[in-house]
Amino acid sequence: MSISQLAGSIKESSTLALNEKARVLRSKGEPVIHLGVGEPKNPAPIAALLSSAAKLNTGDIKYTPTGGLPSLKKAIVRYMEENYNRRVDPENIIVSTGAKQSLYNILYSIIDPQDEVILLAPYWVSYPEMVKMVHGVPVMVTPEDGTFHPRMEDIERQVTSYTKAIIINSPCNPSGVVYSQEFISEVVQFCEEKGIYLILDDIYQKLVENGVRPANAYDYTKKNLEDSKLIIVNGVSKLYGMTGFRIGWVVARRKLIETMAKIQSQITSNASVISQAAAEGALLGVQSVVENLRLEIQNHREVMIRELEAFNGVRLIKPQGTFYCFPDFRAYETDSIKLSKFLLEKALVVTVPGIDFGMEGHLRLSYAGSIKDVTEGVERLKWALDPKAPNEIYIGDRKLERDWL
Ligand SMILES: Cc1ncc(COP(=O)(O)O)c(C=O)c1O
Repeated sequence: MSISQLAGSIKESSTLALNEKARVLRSKGEPVIHLGVGEPKNPAPIAALLSSAAKLNTGDIKYTPTGGLPSLKKAIVRYMEENYNRRVDPENIIVSTGAKQSLYNILYSIIDPQDEVILLAPYWVSYPEMVKMVHGVPVMVTPEDGTFHPRMEDIERQVTSYTKAIIINSPCNPSGVVYSQEFISEVVQFCEEKGIYLILDDIYQKLVENGVRPANAYDYTKKNLEDSKLIIVNGVSKLYGMTGFRIGWVVARRKLIETMAKIQSQITSNASVISQAAAEGALLGVQSVVENLRLEIQNHREVMIRELEAFNGVRLIKPQGTFYCFPDFRAYETDSIKLSKFLLEKALVVTVPGIDFGMEGHLRLSYAGSIKDVTEGVERLKWALDPKAPNEIYIGDRKLERDWL
């Protein structure tokens, strides 16, 4: 079989590959704990289910306008007003099959071959591959002071005449860090001065710790949306725990939205009408579902932090948002793929290697599962890595025997 050089160079999403590995092990009856999960466990909001069921019941399941159902766009206009204090028009919005497709459509629409896109490490696994898929070049900025907070100077140093965009994800997958208001204000101003696109992936926007308010980039620009290169990405996957519906959207100036719609019209036409109806239901339904999810995740986050703070040798920068954290395991092993593989084989715990997020020696741990998964999962990691721990333990009647890294 002959495949293109480009396709051959693209990595599989490591998080999705690990989901599959965990599923196979579980189907064999193995007591796997999945600390790699990338989705909340809550059922979809009733309002979403009723709205999609009502659509299904009409039997009128057809194409929608490429950019999305007008009624869903209206709900997104309202979301923008309520959450960004910004009035946008339906023409500033395009709905896609998940924020993943939204991001890909953006990059496809703005990147010429060799254009560079700046990513802040640790970054979400899909950004570099998506940039490469449109013949662009990902350029990583890694904070050198051991924090997950890059400085503006670090970014400026990487900017060249080829720099086309910067992607910011706050709260950040995998670190859980929320970038400061000052930092976002500096980046917005810098991008405006240089004429660089600023892509804000706000998909975890509301899943934050009590009292934390991720920056609203619009607060720091005086530009009219039509003159602006600010692009906001959002969706229902994380906000409402509706990952399976696959609905994301972009808010940006009309000209860019029109280009994205042209691209999308040739690829997927439009996101599924059933899912669009569900997203509309979620956006217009009671919003206490989001607050309940946020509180549940906050509870899990506290347990995860407690567990990791009691883990000898592991260094943790406390997450303030998302449902992930990104502890540093270099005291045990610097090769994160080797470490993650060892922990899956010996302790039956799924973790995601830091190298996939651009930072070696770390693992991404998710606390989106149950409290039991968080506590038992981290306890098993401690057992597997502690040289003084007993050589074998029992999970029910399954014996786990320790080997050495
Ligand atoms: C940072 C980030 N952006 C975008 C996405 C894609 O979300 P969706 O399910 O809407 O495609 C994810 C999903 O994990 C994510 O973590």
